Amino acid sequence: MKKTLILSAAVLFSAVCFAQKADRPVYLDPHAPVEERVEDALSRMTLEEKVGMTTAQSKFSSRGVPRLGIPEVWHTDGPHGIRPEVLWDEWDQAGWTNDSCTAFPALVNLAATWDKEMSLLYGRSIGEEARYRKKDILLGPGINICRTPLNGRNFEYMGEDPYLAGQMVVPYIQGVQENGVAACVKHYAVNNQEFQRTQSNSVVDDRTLYEIYLPAFKAAVVEGNAWSIMGSYNLYNGQFNCHNKKLLVDILKGEWGFDGVVVSDWGGCRDDEEAVLNGLDIEMGTWTNGLTGAASDSYRNYHMAAPYLKGLREGKYTTKELDDKVRRILRLIFRTSMRPEPNYGRFVCPEHYQAARDISAAGVVLLKNDNNALPLNVPQGGKILVVGENAVKKMVVGGGSSNLKTAYEVNPLEGLQNAFGKNAEIVWARGYVGDTSTSYNNVDTGQDLTDNRTPKELIAEAVEMAKDADYVIFVGGLNKSAHQDNESTDRLQITLPYGQEKVILALAEVAKNIVVVNISGSAVAMPWAGEVDAIVQGWYGGTETGNALADVLTGKVNPSGRLPFTVPFKYEDGPIKTERQYPGIKEEGDEFWQTHYDEGVYVGYRWYSSKKIKVQFPFGHGLSYTTFAYSNAKADKAEMTADQTLKVTVDVTNTGSVDGAEVVQLYINDVKSTIDRPVKELKNFEKVYLKAGETKTVTFEIDAEDLSYFDADKHEWVAEPGKFKALLGSSSEDVRSTVNFKLN
Ligand code: GLC
Repeated sequence: MKKTLILSAAVLFSAVCFAQKADRPVYLDPHAPVEERVEDALSRMTLEEKVGMTTAQSKFSSRGVPRLGIPEVWHTDGPHGIRPEVLWDEWDQAGWTNDSCTAFPALVNLAATWDKEMSLLYGRSIGEEARYRKKDILLGPGINICRTPLNGRNFEYMGEDPYLAGQMVVPYIQGVQENGVAACVKHYAVNNQEFQRTQSNSVVDDRTLYEIYLPAFKAAVVEGNAWSIMGSYNLYNGQFNCHNKKLLVDILKGEWGFDGVVVSDWGGCRDDEEAVLNGLDIEMGTWTNGLTGAASDSYRNYHMAAPYLKGLREGKYTTKELDDKVRRILRLIFRTSMRPEPNYGRFVCPEHYQAARDISAAGVVLLKNDNNALPLNVPQGGKILVVGENAVKKMVVGGGSSNLKTAYEVNPLEGLQNAFGKNAEIVWARGYVGDTSTSYNNVDTGQDLTDNRTPKELIAEAVEMAKDADYVIFVGGLNKSAHQDNESTDRLQITLPYGQEKVILALAEVAKNIVVVNISGSAVAMPWAGEVDAIVQGWYGGTETGNALADVLTGKVNPSGRLPFTVPFKYEDGPIKTERQYPGIKEEGDEFWQTHYDEGVYVGYRWYSSKKIKVQFPFGHGLSYTTFAYSNAKADKAEMTADQTLKVTVDVTNTGSVDGAEVVQLYINDVKSTIDRPVKELKNFEKVYLKAGETKTVTFEIDAEDLSYFDADKHEWVAEPGKFKALLGSSSEDVRSTVNFKLN
């Protein structure tokens, strides 16, 4: 009897569930296939609801469908951490008290690790923070190629080489999206300067576009499966990139099969019809101040709001484009806020702080280390003099939209004090006065950096204090203020600003050991390099920047960073020779500035290496506290056909006395080609960790794609038969082994 009762109750229960399930619309079933959910939701939406989804409703959110229980989409900056909450329609922060995030290192710092594991760790960590803050689209990572060291936003990007940027961005995207948060890769595309960024037209030939400026975006979409992309402010070939038919419809959604959402940059949408027809899916930040920019709610005046609805009603447009936009937005929602397995992320947890510290340290680049000045070898009770504003200035705040509010930030001086504790006397001298501002978007570091002394007085003080110091560590560089690595302004020169060079030279005269730490997001000229013992390229390392730097300076972490860009002796050595190339020209009658990429594919080391121009420190360069030897480089065959792969192996030995990591770089040289090609192009790399004395074999597989150039006439990649060289290097200019082979 009892068993019968239980059985019938169970049958009744499952019938009720089934009935409920049967009533529940497919789009609300988290376990239904995404495309079924998309079609079901789309079929239930009115025209107004569909159009509503394609535009912003506030500074950082776009509409959902309240009637159907489809949530609005929350966007957040930025690539280095979750921006503090802003007011509904202002850039200023809203003054919340629960949104102090973990500031992770600038992306150029991540690129400098050349470590895909670090990139995955980074993406997972920042993705957890975005999820915890209930954000659906993270407006990052940025991967525009460093075409000129003057670009104000190089610090937010991943260097001068498309292969490095592409390989380093993929794990970041995957890590973010594992959290049910969409990465929004930006700024697509050929957006390589801040000067007149909303009024400049990038004039680029197809070969250069496909070989230099698209590959990292293609990797982000095809390998990284990015769920969204941000169109850039500039024009390319005369059309604004937030609705550029060739970039968005033909290439991104056509050739690459992108199934995600194209989001405009804030204010990047400039035309009603192009926005509808050329592949833009969500229009954000259009030049209104939101609710009061016009007589009525100016969000209704967005290009894809009232004008679009009017066009649809008058038959100017069918719903073809609209349904495609809404399908993409719904797909993103079913991948993020309405994803099958809810998770809740984590925020400002010890693991994220540790990740920030480890990633930053792994990207610090030891550029020079004469007399084994580093790691610091301070006698018990010794004295270290730290000089420079960048030793104390907190730089997580500022720089533009990547500005962050954090619970704390360890500056380099504090990092060294933490490392040495009572074992050494650590004193500080200002050395120079740079930028004394401490706030951005009313986020404030709380520091007071005012100092009215003259440069002469500041230098005299530092030199006096240097005389009896065991080490002088100068910490300078740039600081994310205007023209110093900053969104919307480019740099005006690549030499150090604020008279820092004079300070360095004065200190070098008296110091027993002098180490210069340059903190910047792009190359700085170093005419003083010969006067100092050691040089370290430090970065905007985020919350733990000071501890990360100290980890390297003390030897707790053996430096393994490699330059993601070239450091030239002087700006004029570079490939940009004319105003026409940079910052562009605006002639009589031109509506926009015209920036001509006349240097073509000769960007960064492709230029310096091919033209045999000596540089201060080459792309891929970085020293270690140990040494590495390459041996036994060979290929598994002397000739390959286009459908084969060639396996190149090389043994790498740690010939020093401490464990370390070497970044083995593979460059391809096409010995003889019918078109002009750079003498080398990075086609693979591997960061190999080796204990003292240990040897490992590194293997690279080379295929025809690695040997190809883009033939613009044929619109395809071509690998020309003939001789090739596989150059195995510790940097682009330090080729340790060469393997010759032929493509038949
Ligand atoms: C900014 C930036 C973009 C940022 C967006 C939102 O102008 O160009 O990177 O994500 O607007 O702040």
